[in-house]
This record gives sequence, structure tokens and C-alpha cells, in this order.
Amino acid sequence: MVCVLGVLVLLLLVNGPAPVRTSYPIWWSLAVGHQYSSLASQPILCSSIPGLVPKQLRFCRNYVEIMPSVAQGVKIGIQECQHQFRGRRWNCTTVNDNLAIFGPVLDRATRESAFVHAIASAGVAFAVTRACAEGSATICGCDNRRKGPPGEGWKWGGCSEDVDFGNMVSREFADARENRPDARSAMNRHNNEAGRTSIADHMYLKCKCHGLSGSCEVKTCWWSQPDFRVIGDYMKDKYDSASEMVVEKHRESRGWVETLRPRFTYFKPPTETDLVYYETSPNFCEPNPETGSFGTRDRACNLTSHGIDGCDLLCCGRGHNTRTEARKEKCHCIFHWCCYVSCQECTRIYDVHTCK
Ligand SMILES: *[C@@H]1O[C@H](CO)[C@@H](O)[C@H](O)[C@H]1NC(C)=O
Ligand SMILES: *[C@@H]1O[C@H](CO)[C@@H](O)[C@H](O)[C@H]1NC(C)=O
Repeated sequence: MVCVLGVLVLLLLVNGPAPVRTSYPIWWSLAVGHQYSSLASQPILCSSIPGLVPKQLRFCRNYVEIMPSVAQGVKIGIQECQHQFRGRRWNCTTVNDNLAIFGPVLDRATRESAFVHAIASAGVAFAVTRACAEGSATICGCDNRRKGPPGEGWKWGGCSEDVDFGNMVSREFADARENRPDARSAMNRHNNEAGRTSIADHMYLKCKCHGLSGSCEVKTCWWSQPDFRVIGDYMKDKYDSASEMVVEKHRESRGWVETLRPRFTYFKPPTETDLVYYETSPNFCEPNPETGSFGTRDRACNLTSHGIDGCDLLCCGRGHNTRTEARKEKCHCIFHWCCYVSCQECTRIYDVHTCK
């Protein structure tokens, strides 16, 4: 036994840990677990980020000051994914103890994969753009080009967010490994771009009033990114209406190239803001280590909902258990002049339904 272990350790020392193979980026692991928590405290060593291709390594070294925003971007993307999918059979769970943070689920070219790629690449663009506007990096800043004439009752001021820079970072970094001539690479490229485009399409004019006691004598405005929730809601709609594609092989001078073509010609073809996929999702009802499904046993379901979060659909027809749970809550709150609120603590009894 000791001997076998010894050989194993030796092999690891000689070859390094076996590379993790996934159809999605391993560097996303920067966004979870201890790698993320150490970002703020320790200088980033680009060579220690797992799964970078040479182009990404160069990018990391050149732009090391924005790498924390890149990681932050993937994190807000994943958090948004977990919010959007919270009541669904697959709920965007990540595993912390593995570099492949989504397990095998995203190895298939499904709608779920399409969504996660789009929201992660949007997250990176968003977080980098925000960091630049907040002045936390020296190589980027505000966008002073898109000004135009001021409007009625307001003038330009503040810092317009420079989505082009954020998009450039997301494109150069997140898409760097998506240059293979295969179908999955084409799908990832398309969905990454769809995510980024959604930000530029939702920019709005944000204004602030200046003047005596909040009057709006002087108003200054700048271009701002929307709340990331807006992007999440929008991409969730795109998930629901994602376009199913089929893979086509062509022979080109550089060899075989796979491209994607819409499966159904009677639907309108996907635009650059639509999500595309070409493999069907598992139903995620039962645990299956091969597909990465956790199953829905013990998941909390909503008894009154007829949607996917309802007990019928979420539990895949297996039925549910009900127990009561006592929760302490604030109650009988009184506003005291001036200015605080005092509350009592009450215990309320809830019915909790979980899938069998
Ligand atoms: C998401 O699913 C996992 C696996 O079934 C479960 O452990 C977790 O509690 C779920 N999260 C939410 C917010 O429902
Ligand atoms: C359960 O579903 C109903 C109907 O869709 C909804 O009004 C209610 O807020 C849901 N409850 C929870 C706890 O999500």
C-alpha cells in the first residue's frame, strides 16, 4: 500500500496532477473557494491559475491588475445563474473541492451550458467595466467618446462606463481557448458573445441631481451599465427561447471544420443575442454521476406552484414529504420617535415540502 502510494506520489511529482478535461474553462475555479478568497490578500501568480492557454497567460501577465475583476465577474455570473435557476431541477450548483466547478454537467452542449457561458462572459465584461469606472485600474477608465449634445435640463458629468474595454477583456480572455474548429467551440464563442452584447444593449443614462436640499437645479448624467439582475433576467428569457442547432462538417483547406446550423428551418434563425445549443439536457430527476445530475431528492418544492418549482414537476412525480418547521421572526415592530424601530421575536410555524 505504502509502495503504491509512493509510486503515485512520484508520478504526480514527475507529471504534475493529471490535467482536468472539461468543455468549459477550468479557470472559472478562480471564482469559488479558497482561490477566490485569497485574491484580495495575495498577489496573483498567473502561472498558478489552472487551465490557462498561452494566450491567456500572456493576457494575465499584461493585465494582472484587472484579473481580480475577471474572477469577480465569473463569480457574479455564477451567483446570477444560481438566482435564476434556484427553483429548478438543475440549480447551477457548483462544487468547491474540484477544479471542474460544475462537474460534468456542462460538458454536454445543452441550454444550461449555453446559459452559463453567456452569463459568465457577461459577468467578466460587467465587472471589468465597473472596476474601470470606479478607478481601480490604471489601464482603463471612463468612456469619454459617447457624449453627444447634452439634453434638456441636464449636462454630461460623472463617469460613463466603458463597455468596449470590458467586452474586449472578456473576448480576449474568455474566448481565448475557444479557437478549435469543432462545434462546441463555435457554440461557446456564440454564447459568450451573446452574453457580452446584452450588456451594451442595456446601457442607460443615469442621472444625479445637484442643488439645494435635493432640488434638481443641476442634473448630470452618464452612461451606466444596468443592474446585473437585468442581464440575468434577459439571459434567462434567452435560455427559454434558445435555438437548437445541428452540427455540420465541412472540409476546408485547414482540415475538417464543424459549424452550426439551425435544426428547424421554420423558426427564425438565431441572432447574435440568442443562445444556441445542440444537445438535449438530461431531465435531472435522478442522481447520475455521468451526467452530473444531483437528482431532486430532498429539494424543497412549492406546493401551490404549477411551474417547474412546484412539487409535481420538481419531484418528477415521485411525490413529496411534508414537515413543519418553526422559524424565529421579527414581529410587532414599533417605530419610536425618533428614530429607531424595536421588534419582538415571534416563532412562526411553516410547512416545508421536500421531494421524495
Ligand atoms: C440546489 O441543488 C442542490 C443539489 O440538489 C441542493 O443541495 C441545494 O440545496 C439546492 N440549492 C437551492 C438554493 O435550492
Ligand atoms: C409558491 O408558488 C406560488 C404560486 O406560484 C407563489 O405565489 C408563492 O410565492 C410561492 N412560494 C414560495 C415560498 O416561493
